[in-house]
Amino acid sequence: MSKEQAIRLNQEVEHMSLGEVLGFCSEQFKDTLSFATSMGAEDQVITHTLSLQALPVDVFTLDTGRMFAETYDLIDKTQARYNIKIRIMFPDAAEIEKMVNEKGINLFYKSIENRKLCCGLRKIKPLKRALAGKQAWITGLRREQSTTRTDLKMVEWDESFGLIKINPLLEWSERELWGYIKENNIPYNSLHDQKFPSIGCQPCTRAVLPGEDIRSGRWWWENPQTRECGLHKK
Ligand code: ADX
Ligand code: SF4
Repeated sequence: MSKEQAIRLNQEVEHMSLGEVLGFCSEQFKDTLSFATSMGAEDQVITHTLSLQALPVDVFTLDTGRMFAETYDLIDKTQARYNIKIRIMFPDAAEIEKMVNEKGINLFYKSIENRKLCCGLRKIKPLKRALAGKQAWITGLRREQSTTRTDLKMVEWDESFGLIKINPLLEWSERELWGYIKENNIPYNSLHDQKFPSIGCQPCTRAVLPGEDIRSGRWWWENPQTRECGLHKK
């Protein structure tokens, strides 16, 4: 796979509906395609559509060990509702043990460097393992989520991980997303009803105030420009 192939694929799919993009990519990449779900609202829409069309796409989630209880509940609920298996990826126990013993259990509040170390070990390394041998991955990224996400493409070359990245919900608005969830009775994280529009690890996520932007509850103590964990580089 290459950057040129990503550009060509993007031209083919950018005007397709969600179901069409997923069907097309599943056919194109077969078992070398994976979907990364954080169990967020966007991801639940993708899981629903994959199951509705019975597409045989590998689905995995990165369990950092610091998720909310509500997120774990939703993993169970989603597997039962759609009769699917979500692959659960864990970080390396010895590496986490060393990190927290040397730098503190809540090291991420102390510096950006610590926060990036924690995201690196708890998310990026397990993501690399999950994507080993794959040619493409699907994410739930939406353009309007953040200033760091304004110039994404529906299909793009993922420089950081060396494979194709597919963002089928890129152009969906918040309104469309929730309309679709309610209409189809899709299970979602109960924290979304408690003013958590974007949910990551528990210590690094908080509720947002009315009018605040969607991702302002993520790593809220940092500058908006640094608020990406490395799964999605600018
Ligand atoms: S993050 O980089 O800030 O954590 P965000 O929470 O907005 O990302 O999620 C964007 C997309 O990244 C999700 O739709 C999903 O595809 C992927 N993602 C984020 N967190 C995880 C996770 N813990 N496990 C699997 N995929 C994830
Ligand atoms: Fe660690 Fe917070 Fe990153 Fe989760 S979001 S991996 S707890 S720094």
